[in-house]
Amino acid sequence: MSVIKWRESFNTGVDQFDEEHKKIVDLIQRLFDALKTGQKDDCATIIDELTSYTEYHFSNEEKVMTEVGYPGLEEHCQEHRDLIAQAASFQELGESMSREQLGEFYQFLRDWLVNHIIGCDKKYGEYIQEKSNN
Ligand code: FEO
Repeated sequence: MSVIKWRESFNTGVDQFDEEHKKIVDLIQRLFDALKTGQKDDCATIIDELTSYTEYHFSNEEKVMTEVGYPGLEEHCQEHRDLIAQAASFQELGESMSREQLGEFYQFLRDWLVNHIIGCDKKYGEYIQEKSNN
């Protein structure tokens, strides 16, 4: 298990969303730190904050993608819905979530976020930049 770090390659070119992604990366780093120190209560608090902030971020992205007429909107929203559903299935474990499951959840979030930003979010960034250049 390794900590997630912000990379320049995560930039979408849309300042608002780059800042929101940095905040999500920061929350995932805090989850990593809480896991290392074994603070289960802290983990639960961070997971709650992370999921609610991520839903807020998804909603912001979906609003902007709709406004600019982004053609990949539906596929992108489906990825968001899948993440929310998968995160909810971990959260349902609540207090009974073992340290091992918390570690799996951390790894899942970390991998999902990196793949989603690089594979999906950067595409709307390119679309918005192309539109603003025309
Ligand atoms: Fe930044 Fe599509 O989540």
